[in-house]
Amino acid sequence: MQRLFNLQLLHWGYNCKTSTELSRGNRTAMASLPFSILIFGGTGTIGKHITGAILSAKASPGHSISIFTSESTASNPDKQTLLFAWKSQGLRIITGDINNTDDVTRAYEGVDVVVSCLGRNSLLAQTDLIRLAENSASIEWFFPSEYGTDIEYDASSKDEKPHQNKLKVREFIRNDIHRVQCTYLVTGPYIDMYLSLMPGVEAIGGYDVGSKKAVVVNSGNDAVGFTSMPDVGKLVVAALRNPEEAKGKALKVQSFVTTPIEIVREFEKQTGAEWTTSYTPIQELRDLEEQLWEKNNPVATAATLRRIWAEGRTLYEKTDNEKLGLGLGDMETLSEVVGRAIDAASKSE
Ligand SMILES: NC(=O)c1ccc[n+]([C@@H]2O[C@H](COP(=O)([O-])OP(=O)(O)OC[C@H]3O[C@@H](n4cnc5c(N)ncnc54)[C@H](OP(=O)(O)O)[C@@H]3O)[C@@H](O)[C@H]2O)c1
Repeated sequence: MQRLFNLQLLHWGYNCKTSTELSRGNRTAMASLPFSILIFGGTGTIGKHITGAILSAKASPGHSISIFTSESTASNPDKQTLLFAWKSQGLRIITGDINNTDDVTRAYEGVDVVVSCLGRNSLLAQTDLIRLAENSASIEWFFPSEYGTDIEYDASSKDEKPHQNKLKVREFIRNDIHRVQCTYLVTGPYIDMYLSLMPGVEAIGGYDVGSKKAVVVNSGNDAVGFTSMPDVGKLVVAALRNPEEAKGKALKVQSFVTTPIEIVREFEKQTGAEWTTSYTPIQELRDLEEQLWEKNNPVATAATLRRIWAEGRTLYEKTDNEKLGLGLGDMETLSEVVGRAIDAASKSE
């Protein structure tokens, strides 16, 4: 535990000055957001957390928070309960097609900031959305959908297949966007998702509470930087509260750093039982990854990302958490997230 704590301190570059930073974080945490914000993909897997956090932060008087969603989502009974609850919190719901210029142009009227949480299948549609933002009268800031692995971590990143569409969006912004400022929130893997085992490809790693089984890559002792999904929402809000630190940047943020084996130990502690752990050598993961890509299996993306994470490409000497006014006590811990995974598993039994 002490090791984990030290890893966290090291990873945030934490020092005695942070009490000032923390009080800054707490002070800014009280302020409502001085923007009109439009969210794309706001009911999606990570979009739900981002929209929820932005709504909780509230827009200051004279500003609005809206989501742009498809007709199919707006009429989906599974999503209507959520949309109804958000509406009662003041959310405006705009329906339309992200590929329809008129729909998007209308939705952009009076908007200052766009937060895109679009899924992998629609990442490239963002180039038109950003171009329309550049041509709009009011939009000054755009968050393209990232919230994941660092696509420009090192020289090898440009060749990774799952990064290609996000790289194209960044390239487009570098070449063609001059007025609107963009922020990429780089969060690394979501710990919440990392804690499950994918049926059929268990070898890529994960955890199963029901059978108390874990699969780790190599020895399981290689550190990985994670963000919890609720913390992604919190971090987007922190970026919105700190425009001078966030605008025009790829922000590297995390909840904590830990190792796959430390996660097993946390599960063992909280379930009061010994878990069975299997070990996948990294070469075996690479071979599996190649086979999945050859077969056009969509799980290939997960296999590649798991390999990148196991290779250490989520680690930084210092993250940008502190710049956004977030200190150690502001982020979720491994213990909380593991507790949530155990609760969810017991409810689904
Ligand atoms: N760090 C990680 O571990 C991790 C894990 C998963 C995802 N991510 C990243 O998070 C971001 C969002 O991914 P997600 O999984 O949350 O997305 P998602 O749930 O798959 O989709 C988000 C939203 O995008 C819209 N959408 C999806 N497909 C569309 C299509 N073909 N045409 C138009 N709209 C479409 C939908 O919005 P409406 O129905 O409202 O229109 C949907 O709710 C991505 O950049 C992804 O790479 C990171």
